[in-house]
Amino acid sequence: MFRRLPRTAAALWQRRAQSVFPICISSSRQGVPHASILATAGLFGTAAFVANRVRSQTDVTNCEATKKGNFKVCVCGGSGGIGQPLSLLMAMDPNVGELSVYDLTIAMVPPGGVAADLGHLETKVKVKGYAKSLDEKAIDVLGDCLKDCNLVLVPAGMPRKPGQTRDDLFKINAGIFNGIAKEVVEACAKYCPNAVVALVVNPVNSVVPAMAELYKKKGLNPKNIVGVTTLDCVRANKFVAEITGADPDDVEIPVIGGHAGVTIMPVFSQDKHGSKIPAKDIPALDKHVQDAGTDVVNAKNGKGSATLSMAFAGARLGKAVLAGLNGTPTTECAYVLSDVMPGLPYFTSKVTFGKNGVETVHPIGKLNQYEKERLEEAKAALKNEIQSGLDYAASNSLA
Ligand SMILES: NC(=O)c1ccc[n+]([C@@H]2O[C@H](COP(=O)([O-])OP(=O)(O)OC[C@H]3O[C@@H](n4cnc5c(N)ncnc54)[C@H](O)[C@@H]3O)[C@@H](O)[C@H]2O)c1
Repeated sequence: MFRRLPRTAAALWQRRAQSVFPICISSSRQGVPHASILATAGLFGTAAFVANRVRSQTDVTNCEATKKGNFKVCVCGGSGGIGQPLSLLMAMDPNVGELSVYDLTIAMVPPGGVAADLGHLETKVKVKGYAKSLDEKAIDVLGDCLKDCNLVLVPAGMPRKPGQTRDDLFKINAGIFNGIAKEVVEACAKYCPNAVVALVVNPVNSVVPAMAELYKKKGLNPKNIVGVTTLDCVRANKFVAEITGADPDDVEIPVIGGHAGVTIMPVFSQDKHGSKIPAKDIPALDKHVQDAGTDVVNAKNGKGSATLSMAFAGARLGKAVLAGLNGTPTTECAYVLSDVMPGLPYFTSKVTFGKNGVETVHPIGKLNQYEKERLEEAKAALKNEIQSGLDYAASNSLA
């Protein structure tokens, strides 16, 4: 995917991709581009298209969508295991004009170094690095980094170690005093209050309600705080494609609920390939999706959690947000303030991103009997995790 293309072919395709891609998408089906795009693009074009693909439902009805965007994006924790590849993928998005790579001065790689490296990509993006020492406050020093940002992706935080649950990370990542998510969100509230803030930092189920409620207290739009659950969809799609032999591009399993353990609820029955899997095989497949993150944590043996697949998934969500801001409404599953599930104010379902960020939070759709029972299990677990976030927000506020 990242092999260097002959310059003229790549440049030619880049012009085509940026001007033709939005016009050509006439399918309303998620993830599948119209065949004519690939035919028009040819071999090099296909490779570049795949690299830039927004794998989501798109409703392209106006010419505005043909103009590429010039958005400013920040990756907080941009020197980390997820942050570096995520920064790379966002730098490759033609809708990104400026990229801020932000991390701590104690990070393994200085964010200025990541920025210098990415600054050599032959794309239009301007990349700048920003570092903060531990004794500085984000809200005091992130003005240039965050000012006018349209999208802030936050994979900053401690990853899980073998044996830890995502919930174990809550105190560290939400922050008892001036923790990671809170200080980043506080700075966003000051410098880019209208940006979509996409939180990758775990535990998403509690951190998102905590931060969204703090936004609400501050008079800001809590729907600007979005929990990134895309990796669950990516995994479900991959596993179903492996089992059924379908093209992964043609599989679109919604994963609803939340982003930890039993709250991760793939709805296999709503996809044409997933629905063909025998009912007896579904519980094990469901568990495989739930445990996939832990499988990676264990396979990395204490040296990290999912980073590359998470960067892929985070970029898919980031690209969807930017496509929406640029006039092409785009749908992905995400964990947001929601009224689709009575009693659960935060829930993952399909969300359409538009010119103002979160535009529509969609109902969960039809479930079969197994899924109805699973939903009850997911709801019970999610309720407690949301409550931890609400309790945190009740006793904290943003500066
Ligand atoms: N949502 C998901 O699906 C998903 C999947 C995998 C990992 N995660 C979460 O993503 C987070 C990052 O994981 P990783 O593997 O990249 O970890 P990592 O340790 O490799 O990188 C984290 C980066 O965040 C930086 N950082 C820490 N505190 C910061 C602060 N206050 N401000 C700015 N930067 C700060 C660190 O210096 C480091 O560079 C973890 O919380 C992990 O649990 C989420």
